[in-house]
Amino acid sequence: EKGKYKYFMLKEVYEQSKTISDTLRGRLLIPEKIICIDGIESHKEIFVNAESITIVACGTSWHASLIGEYLLEELTRIRVEVEYASEFRYRNPVIGKKNIIIVISQSGETADTLAALKLAKKKGAFVFGICNVVGSTIARSVDAGAYTHAGPEISVASTKAFTAQITVLVLLALIIGKYRYAIDDNRYKFLCEELGAIPEKVNYVLKMNDTIKKISQLYHNVNNFIYLGRGINFPVALEGALKLKEISYIHAEGYPAAEMKHGPIALIDENMPVVIIATKKGCYDKIIGNIQEIKARKGKVIAIVNKGDIQVNLLADHVIEIPNTDEILSPLITVIPLQLFAYQIAFSRGKNVDQPRNLAKSVTVE
Ligand code: M6R
Repeated sequence: EKGKYKYFMLKEVYEQSKTISDTLRGRLLIPEKIICIDGIESHKEIFVNAESITIVACGTSWHASLIGEYLLEELTRIRVEVEYASEFRYRNPVIGKKNIIIVISQSGETADTLAALKLAKKKGAFVFGICNVVGSTIARSVDAGAYTHAGPEISVASTKAFTAQITVLVLLALIIGKYRYAIDDNRYKFLCEELGAIPEKVNYVLKMNDTIKKISQLYHNVNNFIYLGRGINFPVALEGALKLKEISYIHAEGYPAAEMKHGPIALIDENMPVVIIATKKGCYDKIIGNIQEIKARKGKVIAIVNKGDIQVNLLADHVIEIPNTDEILSPLITVIPLQLFAYQIAFSRGKNVDQPRNLAKSVTVE
């Protein structure tokens, strides 16, 4: 039931503190700094000896996969590549014995992801699944896996499943990194602590909804948006743009901020708002440079910044302040204002947020 919420999407956005906690429960023991995931533990050798990992998914789950690429490469030092399931399944991919395939799917029923999984298995790969729907076809077909415990996601636009997928990927990266002695012990412990603190920080961001609503009211009539982020927040920019497209029908594109000058900057004028993830650490100085470039062309800047930020505050038209965390955990926090922003814009435009036109919750046909 939607309870006090007008749409399931908003309810699901607000559930994220709890769903991240649920996904961590029994897997991350904070005082002891122990991470335990059965599907990894029982196949430890395969992960320790892996030469590469290919993550395969569609849509929002593909964005979570890109975040997984940053996380896994950083913490495990295993080479990772990410593919759209629809491309992977038709291009006779090279899969060796030491190549692990990870498939990510909220529904566990996406036709392309299932076909990719079957192909990978036929080629003899070990396939690990990250699904939300328990007992779904993909969950039943993998060699091992870990469920996201986000609970039923009703809204077509995926939100809480996305943050639950990232949570599982963080756990995976930490545990495999530890097995492979790829993470420094102090960093491992610090990240365990920081991960435990994420649900509380998510709650803080949710309190920004009124600010976000006010900003959205100034922009719900525009025709285009650009979303920018760098590093691990580049896929978050893609996800923010997808959310806006899906439910408000405004054209939006996500880019790595540095790609601006390779084309998209030509689009910038006073009618082109830019949402930019400008949290500290992630190449902050370079992001400031990007914001200056946009302002010089009269673009409007809506920036996601850390609490206490000064420099971006001086440049941007609007800022949304969020708590600080380690850079590699930041997508769990930075995506929340983007979800709320998309919701508020779609709502002001009078759209049916939960049932956008032309879209189905689960894409079981090609
Ligand atoms: O169930 P899946 O995670 O496999 O679904 C993949 C995509 O169809 C899905 O994420 C889609 O892009 C959503 N509508 C995004 O909000």
